Formats: sequence, structure tokens, C-alpha cells
Amino acid sequence: MLKNDQLDQWDRENFFHPSTHLAQHARGESPNRIVTGGSGVHIEDRDGNRLLDGFAGLYCVNVGYGRQEIAEAIAAQAKELSYYHAYVGHGTEASITLAKMVLERAPKNMSKVYFGLGGSDANETNIKLVWYYNNILGRPQKKKIISRWRGYHGSGLMTGSLTGLELFHKKFDLPLSQVLHTEAPYYYRRPDISMSEKDFVDHCVSELEALIEREGADTIAAFIGEPVLGTGGIVPPPLGYWDAIEKVLKKHDILLIADEVVTGFGRLGSMFGSDHFGIEADIITIAKGLTSAYAPLSGSIISDKVWKVLEQGTDEYGAIGHGWTYSAHPIGAAAGVANLKLIDELGLVRNAAETGSYLTSAMTEALGNHPNVGDIRGEGMLCAVELVEDREKRTFFDPSRKAAPSVVAAMLKRNVIARAMPQGDIIGLAPPLCLTRDEADTIVSATADAVREILGKG
Ligand SMILES: Cc1ncc(COP(=O)(O)O)c(C=O)c1O
Repeated sequence: MLKNDQLDQWDRENFFHPSTHLAQHARGESPNRIVTGGSGVHIEDRDGNRLLDGFAGLYCVNVGYGRQEIAEAIAAQAKELSYYHAYVGHGTEASITLAKMVLERAPKNMSKVYFGLGGSDANETNIKLVWYYNNILGRPQKKKIISRWRGYHGSGLMTGSLTGLELFHKKFDLPLSQVLHTEAPYYYRRPDISMSEKDFVDHCVSELEALIEREGADTIAAFIGEPVLGTGGIVPPPLGYWDAIEKVLKKHDILLIADEVVTGFGRLGSMFGSDHFGIEADIITIAKGLTSAYAPLSGSIISDKVWKVLEQGTDEYGAIGHGWTYSAHPIGAAAGVANLKLIDELGLVRNAAETGSYLTSAMTEALGNHPNVGDIRGEGMLCAVELVEDREKRTFFDPSRKAAPSVVAAMLKRNVIARAMPQGDIIGLAPPLCLTRDEADTIVSATADAVREILGKG
């Protein structure tokens, strides 16, 4: 096929890319990659590179690239009925079927699913519903939301506020005043290195208790958290964390929103992170793995407890004033149905558990003794390697050293994509759930070679 040799120029002249250094990009100082194809765990670009995508896009292409079953379901839906809205009780076969399939897989206390487009809008929906819920229950002052530092919940006004990463607040006048942040469940970065895991959980709990005490439980509506911290560093929680946090929330009648945008539909080796850790959420956010990113679709899964109040609200005040033109878009829903079937047929949840744990243990074997590797951690098909200046003293690199971005660039030269997580020197891996052991070995050797190239043999 003839290549358009102006694409690079058109890109820099016209295209506003998300999460990009805009000035450098426009000046042509940063690389751009024009992606042309994908199959299994690999993508291809226009320069003929074939890269192993160790981050599944943005941890979303869970079934891998090039799945014809999903492409065909999308095409069939587009031909038959490309769109109809879901307002005032309208549905399509795809959206109704997908709602049933989601509920069959969700924890038992869940009742209904609202469909949006992406993780950010799903969390915006969740916060509106929580506010509505407390208004209907006659406690209009119970509105604040607690999130965690290093949590990631999107980049809208409310969701960017919930996100506990500096980059997403700086110069945007965020966070909004209704949002509070508490300690991140990040044992490796515990405030006092001598703390045991149990001491650290107690510390997270007492920080939360103190925050609730300061603000007043009657002003706090909900707590939002990812079962495993994702963009904040890929950090599984310390043992017993969720049990301990849930006890506090229940005591103060604070709703729990489990943000399962990354963990939903198998990434941890369980269908949901809530099942994986025994979390009983009131609302669950889903997106990415719902369609494996073959089409944009997200959802808010609502528990019986919250649903009953929403019904009561509409009996008292009429139809709920919330919805998007593209809520439950039939093309997204058709992709979702085909994707969830494929996850079952290919046994991908089990593969995420097995091959994911192989990936983390092979990584530990390859790099566990390197003096600049402070921590290697994983859960299901998520793995992270945290780089440090001094392993014994747990001192971190100065960000200007760009340790993780340099390692990730060196991995790319070896045709493996990893992600330098935005805060700290953390190499993040979240490959498609269909990864094989051979492909895991390729990731591990590229990571180990790149770490040694950039930081020395150790
Ligand atoms: C846990 C979590 N929640 C919400 C979002 C926001 O999703 P989106 O980028 O689709 O708006 C993300 C995106 O990475 C996420 O990881």
C-alpha cells in the first residue's frame, strides 16, 4: 500500500495528543509512532517494526489484537443497526444481552449496569449517583469523596480530582473541594521502612479514621479505590488492607466504589478484583476489558442497596436526569458481547493467573538481585519493577535522571513495549491476557537487558 509520506507532518500540525509534551511534539522533538496493525500480543508500525505490546495499549486490549470474532460482531451490528439511543427505556439486542452477561459475571450483590463510553465518564456517573443517593436519603450534606494518593480514576473535572497524581492536578485548579485524599496502600513506599505489612495496614486505617474524624462522617459520601493501584505504580494492596478499610467505611456508612476499569474481566486472574480480594463494593466501575478496547464502552455496576434508592428517587422526582447520547452504544455493546464470550472460550482469566504469575516470578529471578531494583511485584497479568538508587537505604532516583523512561526506551529498541509509570521510576507491564510463557520470557529478557544497559550490570 502506498504510504502517505505527509502523515508525520499532518500529525504535528493538526493533532492534539493526550498526555503528550505538546510543544516538543509540535516542534518534532519527540518521536511519534504511526501504528498500522496488530495481531495477538504484537503491534506493527509504518516503519515495519513489530513490537510485543507489554502494556496491551493502555492495559485494555485484553484478548489481544486482531480478533476477527469481535471485528465481525462490530461489522454485523453496524450493518444491521448502527445506532439507537437508550433513553426512556430503549434498548438493542446487544446492549440488553451485554447487561445480562456483565451481571452474570459481577459479584452477587450487584443489580444493574449503566453503560457509558470510557472509565472517566463512568466514574463521573458514579459520583453523581452517590450524590443523588444521599439527596434521596435526606442527607444533602453527605457529599465528600475520599480517594487515595496515587489512585487513578480518570482525567475529567471530578475524576481528575479523584486521581491522586500530581501531573493531573497541576495548573488545572484541581482537585475540586469535595475531594479528599488519603494514604496510598503502597507498602514498598511505607513512611517508615521498619514497619511490618500489618503495621502499615494499621497506619492506612488510622490515617483514614483521622480524616473521617476531621471532616465528620456525616459529610462523607463515598470512598473510591482500585483493587490494585494501577497508574499510580501497579501496586497490589498489603495483606488485609481491603478488609480493614471496609470495616471503617461500614462503620461510618460510607459507600465503596471499586474502580475496576483495569482489574475488571480477568486482569488479576479473577473475573473481578472485588472477588479476588473479597471486596463488597456498592458500585463497580468497568471499561477497558469490557470490550478489550475494540470499541469504546464503560459501565457502572450498581448494587441492590444503591439501586433501591435510585428507584425510590425516580418515584419521588421523576425520570433520572443523567445520560449520554452514546450510552450503551450498540456497536460497543456488540463488541462487548463478542469479547466476553472470547474471554471465556479462550480461558483467559485462568491464563492471566498462571502466565501472569510466571511473568512476575521469572522477572524476580532475572532482576531480583540487581542493586538498582528495589521491588518487583505483581498480581495476575500485572507486573512492576521499581528502580532505586540505593536498594539497602531505599533511596529513589532524582526524577531528572529519567531512570525508568530510559529503561523503557532501551526495551523498545529490543521491540518490547513497557510503560514508565508517571510518578516514580517504575516499569509497568500489563500484557494482553493471552500472553504465552515464551512471550513472557521475551519481556523478561528485554527488561533485564535494558536495566543492565542503562544502570549497569549490578
Ligand atoms: C482505574 C482507572 N479508572 C479510570 C480510568 C479512566 O478511564 P478512561 O481513560 O477510559 O477515561 C482509568 C484509565 O486508565 C483507570 O486506569
